[in-house]
Amino acid sequence: MKITVKTLRAMKEKGEKITALTAYEALFAGLLDESGIDVILVGDSAGMVFAGHDTTIPVTMDEMVYHTRSVRRAVKSALLVADMPFMSYQVSVEDALRSAGRLLKEGGAEAVKMEGGARILDQVKVCVAAGIPVMGHLGMTPQSVNQFGGFATQGKKKDEAETLLGDALALEAAGAFSLVLEKIPAPLAAAISERLAIPAIGIGAGASTDGQILVTQDMLGLYEKFKPKFVRRYAELAAEVKHAVSAYADDVRHERFPDETESF
Ligand code: KIV
Repeated sequence: MKITVKTLRAMKEKGEKITALTAYEALFAGLLDESGIDVILVGDSAGMVFAGHDTTIPVTMDEMVYHTRSVRRAVKSALLVADMPFMSYQVSVEDALRSAGRLLKEGGAEAVKMEGGARILDQVKVCVAAGIPVMGHLGMTPQSVNQFGGFATQGKKKDEAETLLGDALALEAAGAFSLVLEKIPAPLAAAISERLAIPAIGIGAGASTDGQILVTQDMLGLYEKFKPKFVRRYAELAAEVKHAVSAYADDVRHERFPDETESF
């Protein structure tokens, strides 16, 4: 079944949890799609996980278009959402519309995601008016890492929590079809999800949101630079890869690979 923005809304109404993971290229995207994941996000976390930067700040529009096109080729059922990278939408509504348009037209995305609340409402409205579904992203928004002074939990203080709830309601009113809530206290995420008609998808936001998203390489134990508390590792693939690569190198060095069955 093809998942659309309408499917996600219906899932929230029925109380069915939404599953979401990230992908940056066709190989993993195909595996996620075939495993029945509802939403595949081409996250700008690609800048850290794929390209090796320390933050998502350096990611460019051309890079996001490239990643999105690669993922598009492998995704048949999941809703394909692509991140708008830093400075592709903050300066003006024209920038936002052009950038979002590129992700749909050149990348093949079905929706875009932008970070921020009150400050991006005009950008959200102009994209929605042009027929581009927008997912919001609130809480510990990685593009604001320099303003936050790190990747710490957001919304712990009463005034911050009130601002986050206000931002969530404003994004919904501006036409966002869904929100990501990242690294905020679980009771606050539960309260926001309860107040919204649109689905809230959590990452480090407790169990009461309408769905969950993780970075695929985190939950597979592939990305070893750091392990946030909210990540559950469902595999230890980095260790598996190192084990396999060492075995291959050992076989080559000791002339055990290739053997006759692997030769012509
Ligand atoms: O860039 C990304 O991968 C994200 C998710 C972690 C939500 O924004």
